[in-house]
Amino acid sequence: MIMQTLRKKRIGPVIFSEYKRGDAIKKAISMTREDILFELKDSGLKGRGGAGFPTSTKWMLTAAAKSDEKFLVCNADEGEPGTFKDRVLMMELPELVFDGMVVGGYTIGAQKGIVYLRGEYEYLLKPLEDYLEVMRKDHLLGKNILGKKDFNFDIDIFLGSGAYVCGEETALIESLEGHRGEPRNRPPYPINTGFRGRPTSVNNVETLAAVSHIVIKGGSWFAKFGSDKSTGSKLFSVSGDCEKPGVYELPWGIKISELLKVVGAKNTKAVQIGGASGHCVPKSQFDRTLAYEDVPTGGSVMVFDESRNMLHVLKNFMEFFVDESCGQCTPCRIGNVKLLEGVEMIEKGEFTFSHINKLKDLGKTMQIASKCGLGQSSPNPFISILENFNDEIFNAGHGGRNEK
Ligand SMILES: Cc1cc2nc3c(=O)[nH]c(=O)nc-3n(C[C@H](O)[C@H](O)[C@H](O)COP(=O)(O)O)c2cc1C
Ligand code: SF4
Repeated sequence: MIMQTLRKKRIGPVIFSEYKRGDAIKKAISMTREDILFELKDSGLKGRGGAGFPTSTKWMLTAAAKSDEKFLVCNADEGEPGTFKDRVLMMELPELVFDGMVVGGYTIGAQKGIVYLRGEYEYLLKPLEDYLEVMRKDHLLGKNILGKKDFNFDIDIFLGSGAYVCGEETALIESLEGHRGEPRNRPPYPINTGFRGRPTSVNNVETLAAVSHIVIKGGSWFAKFGSDKSTGSKLFSVSGDCEKPGVYELPWGIKISELLKVVGAKNTKAVQIGGASGHCVPKSQFDRTLAYEDVPTGGSVMVFDESRNMLHVLKNFMEFFVDESCGQCTPCRIGNVKLLEGVEMIEKGEFTFSHINKLKDLGKTMQIASKCGLGQSSPNPFISILENFNDEIFNAGHGGRNEK
């Protein structure tokens, strides 16, 4: 099977710890739904897709929603720049992700699971479908799974079409329904009114992989790793100026300086945490920790060394947001264009500081007034790069007009 040739032996404390295919499903069906929800709550697992919503709460609410049809969606859109850990999980450890989906289906009472696979990962479609076929033969999918009466659950894979915003859960659901991938107004939330108007839980790939381990080893085992508010471990996709880019499983709460050592980064001047929509951390703050209580992240870590021009980095991010805004709401559609124009003005030395300050205020307005997370977070790099690299950007080369 192709998937076997893609496998590598990865070792880690939680996600990359030993796991045997089907084990989480076997264990789950011997438990009640309430027991599983209890273990999840005990684990403190928060969704790994970025927002950090507690998985036990999401599943409890979806389980409680009254409907004869429910869905569990695995969000494998992975469009955030600098993120590739979900691809590695799908490629190398599909058993963890699919078993987590089956456990989720059992817990919330869904009959159908759907993987929303990033369009650029099309090459994974066939091996993943082959894998699902093997699961069906082994009675890990289908009717009366592993002999559990009336537990019926199967998984389909849907290929996305390459829009970053389709990773946002309601845009994803629109896209699944065959519409333009545009975020919906919330409420209602997908847990009540999701795919085809039915209760739907949307979960990140890594979240589902964590669930498989939690069911086997228990919530308190998981909660032993990391910190009080950020339990378990985290997969980080590390790219940029370092000797060993790649996917790392590290404990939550690790200092940025420690992570940089692990990946062999030298002369680092900035690290972009959480992708283009995340925060740019300067060298003076490398003792900060990666955790929900300090610098939260969905897992993207981009390393920039002294040779990088931070204004170019910022321009690249803002061009991305202008391209990817779905255009539905004004703060994001117009705001990102204005922020990009501001960067271009700085580049040409044709700006005033009062205009740049107004753009920072515009960014803050976008954070509040945009309809979805894209426009709410796209000003983050504008604000954090201009604030943290003030000297480099405004004093070295980029003049600006004098003002009174
Ligand atoms: C613009 C945008 C893109 C997103 N892309 C992804 C993505 O690729 N994968 C993902 O899991 N979550 C993504 N999210 C977050 C999802 O909306 C949702 O919170 C997540 O899938 C829930 O899963 P979790 O609870 O396991 O984190 C994105 C959000 C926004 C606003
Ligand atoms: S914030 Fe941007 S991406 Fe989100 S709905 Fe508004 S225009 Fe679309």
